[in-house]
Amino acid sequence: MKEHARQARAENCIIGLIPTMGALHEGHLALVKRAKQQCSQVMTSIFVNPKQFGPKEDLAKYPRTFEADAKNLAAAGVDAIFAPEPSDVYPDGFRTYVSVEGLSERLEGRSRPGHFRGVATVVLKLLEIVQPHFAYFGRKDAQQVRIISQMARDLNLGTEIVVCPIVREADGLALSSRNTYLKSDEREAATVLHRALIAARDELAAGVRDALQLQTVLRKVLQAEPLAAVDYAEIVDADTFEPVVRVSRPCYMVLAVFLGKTRLIDNLYIEPVNPGSDELLFHV
Ligand code: PAJ
Repeated sequence: MKEHARQARAENCIIGLIPTMGALHEGHLALVKRAKQQCSQVMTSIFVNPKQFGPKEDLAKYPRTFEADAKNLAAAGVDAIFAPEPSDVYPDGFRTYVSVEGLSERLEGRSRPGHFRGVATVVLKLLEIVQPHFAYFGRKDAQQVRIISQMARDLNLGTEIVVCPIVREADGLALSSRNTYLKSDEREAATVLHRALIAARDELAAGVRDALQLQTVLRKVLQAEPLAAVDYAEIVDADTFEPVVRVSRPCYMVLAVFLGKTRLIDNLYIEPVNPGSDELLFHV
């Protein structure tokens, strides 16, 4: 892959990379589409990264659908797929890790210790191998892309990190490779994440800016769903991922909810049209 990328650079291609763990869906393919608009050489990596899974998480049963993925990527116009083996990425004696401090400890980082260290380490390696001009990430994993952007800035990486909107099913459920774990009653109940975000968004639209009040709305909707167990439901600053008291600058409403054994995340980005003004734009 290093040689392929070097060749593409020598030919003055604009290179775009979409890192994934495979089991591709329309959310991933939207990233490809975005990359195709900007880049002359689009590459996708497929690597189920063992370092970002906790000991009790779903590494072994994470869906692996390489044949179908390769077909979908070819149809979407991807020029190259990079699908290394864990032993290629982490040979015996591997010792170097990247931690983005201050952004990795809360929310996903708290529920999944070591997760972001594994994500940052593998993404740095992928960006080093390919050295793309652009790399594409979904806002679905808002904290992840915030951490990756910070890493790119702190380590002077020559890659621009592009953040793309969340792709959803018709009923609002954010697409995720993990949705395939849901039993049919859980799948129905899973719309509760989006329903909670919409209920809180309606409160925002009605003028509510108090974070506690918005959080109460989120929790009320989530708790009304018997199959759902809340991990977290918070309003956080979009830059620091620390809780806010009032929504007056870019924020995220972030959710992590268990449906049975399956843990789903979702979020709503809230961006004031004019910072300091009470008028808000919503990305849902
Ligand atoms: P994975 O879960 O496969 O996701 C790959 C990319 O697709 C991520 O940037 C993710 O945010 C984006 N994505 C997933 N679902 C989406 C949706 N519904 N709408 C928009 N984008 C979506 O995230 C990872 O893999 C890994 O942590 C990785 C970055 C590859 C490092 O191992």
